Amino acid sequence: MDFQLNEEQLTIKYAARSFAQNICLPKVIERDEHKTFPYEQVYKLAEQGFLGLMVDPKYGGAGMDSLSYILSIEEISKIDASCGVIMSVNNSLVCHGLEKYGSDYIKENYLTYLAQGIKNGKLYIGAFMLSEPESGSDASAMKTTVKDMGSYYEINGIKNWITNGSTASVYIVLAQSDFSKGAKGINALIVESQSEGISVMSPENKLGIRSSDTCSVIFNNVKVPKENLIGKPDFGFNFALGILDAGRIGIAAQALGIASGAYELALQYAKTRKSFGKQIIQHQAVQFKLVDMLTQIEAARLLTYRAGIEKDSGHAYSIDAAMAKLVASQTAVQVTTESIQIHGGNGYVKDYHVERLYRDAKITQIYEGTSEIQKIVIGRYLMK
Ligand code: CAA
Repeated sequence: MDFQLNEEQLTIKYAARSFAQNICLPKVIERDEHKTFPYEQVYKLAEQGFLGLMVDPKYGGAGMDSLSYILSIEEISKIDASCGVIMSVNNSLVCHGLEKYGSDYIKENYLTYLAQGIKNGKLYIGAFMLSEPESGSDASAMKTTVKDMGSYYEINGIKNWITNGSTASVYIVLAQSDFSKGAKGINALIVESQSEGISVMSPENKLGIRSSDTCSVIFNNVKVPKENLIGKPDFGFNFALGILDAGRIGIAAQALGIASGAYELALQYAKTRKSFGKQIIQHQAVQFKLVDMLTQIEAARLLTYRAGIEKDSGHAYSIDAAMAKLVASQTAVQVTTESIQIHGGNGYVKDYHVERLYRDAKITQIYEGTSEIQKIVIGRYLMK
């Protein structure tokens, strides 16, 4: 497997790095503090093609490969992990899902705009709605219903922990059509967020990724056109799990970015901060911490890049994605913790950025399948 980056991959990596430094970094602390959605940053990400990176240009995307996508999320998340998750959800869970399984009608009417991230001059992004108050890891236990009303579908229920919940123009909603069928009775539908009967709840007050938009959304007799069904009836759960494989690569890239950002800050700090008459990097205790951090990051990076390459090669990649997310998220939590330790008291205050990365890291072990779920996915493979 070749990890040598080609010219296109290097170009997008440096473009994302420059975007993060120039567009995301200013006011990132304030956005985190006040839970401000990074509207201007996401709009600019859309303008520069970062919201539909892997989508075929005939549907408005940038037509790049998964490694380019991973590199972009990694670079953006080093500075602003909230922008990282917004990118990941739109690219992987929404655009990739619609490109792979959507009808021509869906591609023309929704994917084309979602891949560009802009419609009629306004931000146009998507959200993926699987989780509910009583079904997170056990995703097929959902209670939201979809009823075939003849000329349209009707959705009732509540979805929660929805990234882009109040900003999205389009939702991909998973709902149960027949409880007796369990996972085989679930449908996936596209719902426009302005549809009658939709209520968006207040944003959650989160530990980290505070400027991303996370909320619950209630559906009360919401009518959905028949042509908005994704794939065949009752294909929804397979669709959701298949798309989550791709989503997990995006979250692994986000975790990798958080870890790398915290490592780079610690390295820089260790070279400038002095104690006992020398730079703290010259103390072996600090040096060893940095060595462990870098080694863990490189291991997570190899797994994440490999998952992206496997996805593009057309091989089954569920296990690669699960391993990448499992290791990258653990790396993010451990590296940000050690970065604070190296920063000492300075790491515990907001000005040094590492405090935010520490808070941002935790969610990568929870969303798009907890670490325990990744182990279930890998463990089931062992039993085959
Ligand atoms: N791709 C496609 N289909 C798959 C699949 C995959 N990776 N894995 C399983 N399936 C299929 C199975 O083959 C089966 O279909 P058949 O019966 O036709 O063979 C069907 O899906 C059901 O599979 P299981 O019996 O394995 O399902 P399960 O109920 O035991 O659950 C699970 C498996 C792995 C635990 C799954 O429920 C899971 O991944 N849970 C975690 C949910 C999750 O990740 N939620 C994240 C929310 S989204 C989010 O966080 C987004 C955000 O905003 C950031």
